[in-house]
Amino acid sequence: MMKEIGIGLIGCGSIALANHIPGIGYTRHAVVTALCDSSPEVLQAAVNKTGISKIYSDFTEMLENRDVNAVIIATPNVTHAPIVKAAIANGKHVFCEKPIGLNYPEAAEMVKAADQAGVKHMTAFTYRFTPAIKYMRRLIESGFLGQPYHFRAQRFQDWGTRSLGWRQMAELAGSGELADMLSHRIDFAHYLVGSIRQVVARLRRFLDKRGGAVSDVDDWVSMIIEFESGASGVLESSKLCTGTGEGPQSRDYCEINGSEGSLAYSTQTPLELRAAQKGANSFARMPVPDDLLKHPASTRNPRDGDPLLTFRYDQDAEFINAIIEDRPCVPSLMDGALAQAVMDAAIISSRERRWMELNSLTTSNH
Ligand SMILES: NC(=O)c1ccc[n+]([C@@H]2O[C@H](COP(=O)([O-])OP(=O)(O)OC[C@H]3O[C@@H](n4cnc5c(N)ncnc54)[C@H](O)[C@@H]3O)[C@@H](O)[C@H]2O)c1
Repeated sequence: MMKEIGIGLIGCGSIALANHIPGIGYTRHAVVTALCDSSPEVLQAAVNKTGISKIYSDFTEMLENRDVNAVIIATPNVTHAPIVKAAIANGKHVFCEKPIGLNYPEAAEMVKAADQAGVKHMTAFTYRFTPAIKYMRRLIESGFLGQPYHFRAQRFQDWGTRSLGWRQMAELAGSGELADMLSHRIDFAHYLVGSIRQVVARLRRFLDKRGGAVSDVDDWVSMIIEFESGASGVLESSKLCTGTGEGPQSRDYCEINGSEGSLAYSTQTPLELRAAQKGANSFARMPVPDDLLKHPASTRNPRDGDPLLTFRYDQDAEFINAIIEDRPCVPSLMDGALAQAVMDAAIISSRERRWMELNSLTTSNH
């Protein structure tokens, strides 16, 4: 009988309860044994919701608990690097929310520390687990697109003028829409098309105050990229697309056009793609095959629940399964660091109004 992996959850706010508590519930051989949050109210609410009674307000104390073998870090961005490094120093496997740090050098240090300690490490790039994205990757690998020409990703939401809490403070979040939403799209650009060679970007803040408090981050970001393969990419993400709604229901679109065909997906329909082959003049539905409807190690029934939400649980299955199978997690902290390098380049590009080469950023700090 395999020993259960004890999970410590650090940060028990929105995403911890929405994704990771149910996610661990759909794994074999893992159980959340301890909760940590610096806010007593959030911690109490998490206890009430989960029934888990081993609690900490200080993560360093949780890391001394031998029943905690691995940690999931779901705190504000500025805290990720110190918590990940402390967890690694205590021999814990780490699963960190995105973006994993505030800049590439910080992220690269996290990767190095994790690799040197030999712990498993993962970045919560949730959309890699969208069945349609996995199917897209399979089709691309099988040659469906031929030579990829264009990648485009759009994340359009309406968050109005409301407070974003820590997300509207650069010193806590790093950046705004770039860190919050576009980071995922950068990762699946890497996943679907490959390495990015160059980027030119623009970040804009339209609201200097949200919920009556100062906001000093971008609420719109756009970038043009060139992949190593020569393909082009256009990415745009905003919190100010009035009337478009919010969350999983609002526009979240990805399309790739290649020499032999085109593929498109929308998170609103995560169980199907839209596809066209050379010669067609419209896209047709392509349902995701059964074997891609969930992570193979997840115990969830892919027909149960809301498909807009349920794929998000699969990232926890990947983390636990990688620990059990003693293999690297996909996506790892390295994928988090590579996305971070593109984010750093986007910030410099916008500030200095110029194209940025990625190699200069990623190699100078390694
Ligand atoms: N992968 C995704 O799809 C996805 C979605 C939403 C959020 N996120 C990421 O998850 C992270 C958390 O976001 P959220 O929306 O849950 O935020 P949140 O504000 O709802 O929760 C964060 C929690 O961390 C706690 N916290 C802060 N500092 C702490 C510390 N030092 N030790 C322990 N607890 C601490 C806060 O009290 C709060 O309860 C962010 O990095 C965010 O970018 C990822």
